[in-house]
Amino acid sequence: METADEVRAHLDALREAAWELAALVLALEDRTEVSPDARRAAVDLLVTRGLFVASDDGPRPSAALDEVLGGRAPMVAAQTAAAITQPAGLVAGADVWTRQDDEAILAQGRASAQAPMMFKAFVLPSLEGLAELLDAPGAAMLDVGVGVAAMAVAYCETFPNLRVVGLDVFPRALELAARVIDEAGVADRVELRLQDVAALDERGVYALGWLPAPFIPRPALEAAVPRMAAALVPGGWLMLAHGRLDEPGIAPALTRLQTAVFGGTTLEAAEAQALLSDAGLVQVFSPPSPPGAPALAFGRAPQASS
Ligand SMILES: C[S@@+](CC[C@H](N)C(=O)[O-])C[C@H]1O[C@@H](n2cnc3c(N)ncnc32)[C@H](O)[C@@H]1O
Repeated sequence: METADEVRAHLDALREAAWELAALVLALEDRTEVSPDARRAAVDLLVTRGLFVASDDGPRPSAALDEVLGGRAPMVAAQTAAAITQPAGLVAGADVWTRQDDEAILAQGRASAQAPMMFKAFVLPSLEGLAELLDAPGAAMLDVGVGVAAMAVAYCETFPNLRVVGLDVFPRALELAARVIDEAGVADRVELRLQDVAALDERGVYALGWLPAPFIPRPALEAAVPRMAAALVPGGWLMLAHGRLDEPGIAPALTRLQTAVFGGTTLEAAEAQALLSDAGLVQVFSPPSPPGAPALAFGRAPQASS
């Protein structure tokens, strides 16, 4: 962007985009606090944009938008709302994560529910011995930052013998998590703990540990890695997720901003791997991760010497 006209056009497009996102939320959700006039105008905007089309029963999502919604309009609406309310919270100086309403927190959680299926299909085959460990009776996984437990439930569904222990420091997320595991029928397989991962004090329990750096403050993260390493069973794996900083364009800068806003830790792949190695883990590596997924670094607890 070199000329003032280009900058002006860019800023205009961004301002319009924020309103268009708001219109999409209004059109997809039945918000009683919004006037019918505003909702109608929002739908009109989307018709003009080509996201909604006229029909005998009034405007409805276009076939292409319908495909994107995939029968999950409330989730897409909640994720879209978060894309406006989180930056708005930042501008207002509020704590962006904890001030969100329940729906937004649930939606964010649900977005991570795809992860276990992807993990099983694309990553598990490269983690020596883990498939057997996860399949063993009594196998356990540690889910740090369990949130509303959407991912924990999906792990239970993906690995039928697995028990999940979920830690979080945010009581409201854990209240929602209790509801989510109940509704999914896995309350007997997920243990929720209001506990900072920096205070984890277990040994030789978990086949797999999940640690999402973008949400965990650096002091807690640095304390967590050796504690989680000690909490693995021999041959168990620690999975450290971190933002992707090697992409072209604005994406890495956006990742750094979002990580800072969530109070988490930005890690380059080399630093992520060093944290794992320094904690005594072996076979440390970072597999390629598909676009849209976080970058991952893995380390394995040494096998017990015989
Ligand atoms: C994006 S959420 C995780 C969403 C989750 N996968 C789900 O299915 O809902 C990240 C969570 O990490 C939690 N967190 C942040 N610092 C933590 C810490 N030191 N120990 C444990 N949890 C922490 C936050 O409270 C937040 O709920």
